[in-house]
Amino acid sequence: MAFLETKDFLDFTELTKDEVYKILSLSSELKKEGKNKKRYDIEGKTVALIFNKPSTRTRVSFEAGIFQLGGNPIYLHSSDLQIKRGETISDTAKVLSSYTDLIVIRTHAHEEAQELAKHASIPVVNALTDLYHPCQALADLLTVQEHKERLGGINLAYFGDGNNVCHSLMIAAKKCGINMKIATPKGFEPSKDVVKLTEHMEGEGKIEVFNDSAKAASKADVLYTDVWVSMGEEDEDKHLTLFKPYQINKELVSKAKDDAIVMHCLPAHRGEEITADVIDSKQSVIFDQAENRLYTQKALLVGLIGVEHENIL
Ligand code: CP
Ligand code: NVA
Repeated sequence: MAFLETKDFLDFTELTKDEVYKILSLSSELKKEGKNKKRYDIEGKTVALIFNKPSTRTRVSFEAGIFQLGGNPIYLHSSDLQIKRGETISDTAKVLSSYTDLIVIRTHAHEEAQELAKHASIPVVNALTDLYHPCQALADLLTVQEHKERLGGINLAYFGDGNNVCHSLMIAAKKCGINMKIATPKGFEPSKDVVKLTEHMEGEGKIEVFNDSAKAASKADVLYTDVWVSMGEEDEDKHLTLFKPYQINKELVSKAKDDAIVMHCLPAHRGEEITADVIDSKQSVIFDQAENRLYTQKALLVGLIGVEHENIL
């Protein structure tokens, strides 16, 4: 049954700490049951998935998860919609609200997801915008909890580009008491607005931004990175040599705690932001993180549109 107060999930600020833990606990329960256990938590519900950028994990985990929960996913590449021919987002929101029960959207401008949510009478979930990737942060929290048995007091070091993945992780970290040290090249720090937002949010986590990767890695329980060139930035003149000191490699890993884990939201560019030996090392939990996308998104969907059903545990 739906247990979240919020209508939409756009940037991670919408969830209370208690709700985050409820999602994580349901995710673990769903994970124990495995991907083939048929459930009826969103039976009869239809979910529209609008994608304006490529995706492997987000698209497939949402589609599979919706099916596994008894719902019906409809994948819509944005070029198949009349939006491409000038129909407004607000008109699209109203029409889809009359056919479906939730909209998942991956797009460029975060304002597009906000506009959709404003005009949709049904929940809207952000499956990544240029500014935020909150579904990724949910899976990241579950992964840290599984491997470190807690979230509060964990030291997480993030290296590379202060981007969408970093922004949602900052909000999630602050909320759950994770201390996050972010090391980026000059000019690629996280958005000042997001830094300010985390400063004014409730939560125990301490967020610090550096330009020195060794400083961020010291005493870290978790080392995290993302690609240096995000979707939509391919034509920008981004000087990748600036990012080299922020690569997660064996030397950087050796500066963290001995039992530190390594995370990456994927897709990875082996040899750029992270070396192949680290991705494939014992300290890497990167593929657990990818697997957890399925279970945290299923729990999120139950939280937003779950139905009462006699077959539900
Ligand atoms: N991590 C992530 O969102 O991957 P996809 O781009 O493959 O969905
Ligand atoms: N920052 C990356 C994340 C991919 C999941 C991008 O936006 O392309």
